[in-house]
Amino acid sequence: MADQLNVGMIGARFMGRTHSNAYTKVGQFFDLPLQPVMKWVCARDGDETQAFADRFGWSKSSDDWEEVVADKGIDLIDICTPGATHAPIAIAAAQAGKHVFCEKPLANSLDDARKMLAAVREAGVRHMVNFNYRRCPAVSLARQMIAAGEIGEVRQYRAVYLQDWLVDPSAPMSWRLEKEVAGSGAHGDLNAHLIDLARFLTGDEITRVVGDLKTFVTERPYPDGSGAGIGASGDSGKSGVGKVTVDDAAVFLARFAGGAIGTFEATRMATGRKNYNRFEISGSKGTLAWNFEEMNTLEYYSTAEPTNRQGFKTIMATEPDHPYAGAWWPPGHLLGYEHTFVHGVRDLIQAIAAGGDVAPDFRDGAQCVAVLEAVESSAESGGWQDVERVE
Ligand SMILES: NC(=O)c1ccc[n+]([C@@H]2O[C@H](COP(=O)([O-])OP(=O)(O)OC[C@H]3O[C@@H](n4cnc5c(N)ncnc54)[C@H](O)[C@@H]3O)[C@@H](O)[C@H]2O)c1
Repeated sequence: MADQLNVGMIGARFMGRTHSNAYTKVGQFFDLPLQPVMKWVCARDGDETQAFADRFGWSKSSDDWEEVVADKGIDLIDICTPGATHAPIAIAAAQAGKHVFCEKPLANSLDDARKMLAAVREAGVRHMVNFNYRRCPAVSLARQMIAAGEIGEVRQYRAVYLQDWLVDPSAPMSWRLEKEVAGSGAHGDLNAHLIDLARFLTGDEITRVVGDLKTFVTERPYPDGSGAGIGASGDSGKSGVGKVTVDDAAVFLARFAGGAIGTFEATRMATGRKNYNRFEISGSKGTLAWNFEEMNTLEYYSTAEPTNRQGFKTIMATEPDHPYAGAWWPPGHLLGYEHTFVHGVRDLIQAIAAGGDVAPDFRDGAQCVAVLEAVESSAESGGWQDVERVE
């Protein structure tokens, strides 16, 4: 019987559900050196928090994250709350000697991200940011192929993350549309994923950016308390119309240290697109392309083929020797969104047991925030902006 890893999770809605599912499944499908034990769930959802605990199998519920962090029996604090709360919870958790797993983006400012990184380093605890798309088997495979030189030198990186849940002007206000809570809109929410994927896949850093941010709908009604939809997060207690203080769409050009150039677009205004997270990477010897909505497959073109046989081929990343895939089903039996969270928790638990590093860590998370901030500065100045390097 493996030793226990006692978990306290803060936040109990969208990400709270995905993380709860991951802790439940991970030990069933992967051999683990430590078994996660779902001790505390904490949220500000009134009676719903205890109902959530009962439904997902958490032993106790609380509405006070400080109570959870203070519990000496807890080993890992898992942060599934809006961006503005990440820094205080993560810093307190690290100072209490807990390992920290934090949702993306790491923080709403580079200053906060640096403080979080300093706190976990000072405490000597393990730390990880949940950029879960890295852990789609097809994306991990793409990383392996680029690192092995299979598309040669990376020249052009194209990324889009398209959603449409804000196209309707009556879509309700929520914390995701308030700058002081969310930090930014589509930019921090979706471009954060794209930036992390670009860093992961290329193994390179974005050094300079020029970008633009746009808010198309500047006022929205407060929700009716139903909590329905991605944007609605329960009853805010406010009524009438609220001011949207974040971007609906964010675009930028990027230069990479290794010489590649990139284009990035994140939007919640792409009518018809639901979770269209796509990259296409052109190299000197080939191309790789992927789209989350068909997450099990990777498109690959190689100039190593005879010219009369060249063309894009589709690799289904469900073979036992594809990353993570062998733990699940026979080839061709597809994986989904939830599996990416199970894979992340697996890797984090292994790192905690081994006392080793796990990626993406808080330095990766802070470097991503540095790129996000540089784009925001560029949008204000109208010119190219250097990206700060986080060491
Ligand atoms: N990795 C991904 O694909 C992904 C997807 C969506 C959201 N996220 C990130 O996850 C985080 C949470 O987003 P979500 O969609 O789950 O939000 P949500 O609105 O669905 O849930 C937020 C939860 O946090 C709780 N909360 C808020 N303030 C709190 C406080 N002070 N103390 C305790 N609990 C508090 C709320 O009660 C709620 O349970 C954000 O950082 C977001 O960017 C990541």
